[in-house]
Amino acid sequence: MQYSVSFPGGTARYLFNSSFEQIHQWLAPAECIIVTDSNVAALYNHLFSGYKAVITVPTGEVHKNFSTVLSVTQQLLEHKAHRKTFLLGVGGGMVTDITGFIASVYMRGVPFGYIPTSLLGMVDASIGGKNGINIGLQKNLLGTISQPEFILFDTHFLDTLPASEWSNGFAEVIKYACLFDVKLFDELVERDIQYYKNDSSAASALIARCADWKNKIVLADERESGMRKLLNFGHTAGHAFETVCLVPHGHAVALGMLVACRLSEQYGLDAGVTKRLSAVLRQYHLPVHIQADTQQLMDVLHMDKKRSATGIDFIILKDIGKAEIQNVAFETIRQVIQQFINAGDH
Ligand SMILES: NC(=O)c1ccc[n+]([C@@H]2O[C@H](COP(=O)([O-])OP(=O)(O)OC[C@H]3O[C@@H](n4cnc5c(N)ncnc54)[C@H](O)[C@@H]3O)[C@@H](O)[C@H]2O)c1
Repeated sequence: MQYSVSFPGGTARYLFNSSFEQIHQWLAPAECIIVTDSNVAALYNHLFSGYKAVITVPTGEVHKNFSTVLSVTQQLLEHKAHRKTFLLGVGGGMVTDITGFIASVYMRGVPFGYIPTSLLGMVDASIGGKNGINIGLQKNLLGTISQPEFILFDTHFLDTLPASEWSNGFAEVIKYACLFDVKLFDELVERDIQYYKNDSSAASALIARCADWKNKIVLADERESGMRKLLNFGHTAGHAFETVCLVPHGHAVALGMLVACRLSEQYGLDAGVTKRLSAVLRQYHLPVHIQADTQQLMDVLHMDKKRSATGIDFIILKDIGKAEIQNVAFETIRQVIQQFINAGDH
């Protein structure tokens, strides 16, 4: 399945159920520089012959920073990259974010595309045109919104994805289900990671469904002035857990979704929904409780981009498949986080 989506920031072609080799239909390898990370390069170097160059960045979120941008830029110059040189990001969300960022600013913009290789990359990070790099603890502080020419989805890459990265990706899948898609939530309850690992057509269908949801939202609000904010469900408290407890992104989002549900209970959400979410998170090997210092979490939340003088815009669930934005007072957030840390969601 293929389709194109025209955003104000450019048109992106979505190539689902594709294989890496089909990329030749969309670009000339001799004019293309691949950007990848050291893990993906070690596993898939055999696919990368015939390209103008392969630039390998160190793996991991800590390297999604300015010194990696400088190093890649230096290498682009050494390889005589010019304004028509195509940059192809092949890797997880770290690689696609940094490739998109560099491609948007190198010589004021060169063409680029993505081949996401992690589940999180396929269902979320490669879609929507946001890219960016971290400055210290400030995630994605520098970035642009610009659409890749294409995103090619090849689920064969998932064969080598470590178990922990499958779980991280599923945190975002569960997020889409909670926000928009009761049927998807029910499907996730019936299945598990192994099911999707064993059945690549089920995995492809799942990825396309998540991409559809993200595209619908980004199409309605590319620059996040309204509806796109919903995609932050679980990410507000999640970001605090990620910063303070140094847990992986998917784990942080899982914990953040539970905090958001507990807050949502104050706005009428049935507590049974929080229990169902907790059960599905455990089913996908995601955490449902954590030890942390409430004050440290609140210190991070006080710096949140969505804060106002008295509180933060939180994504609140009304039910599975129904969400809205509510400004929640800092004191309410503190109480709910304190209760969550004391009790967890067992
Ligand atoms: N731009 C957006 O809209 C958006 C949305 C969500 C997340 N993100 C960003 O995405 C990043 C997280 O993405 P991620 O979880 O993919 O992280 P990642 O890119 O760091 O990949 C996670 C790990 O999996 C490895 N890996 C990737 N593909 C593999 C494969 N096929 N086989 C074996 N190992 C493989 C990587 O080398 C890395 O060690 C963060 O930087 C986050 O900010 C961006």
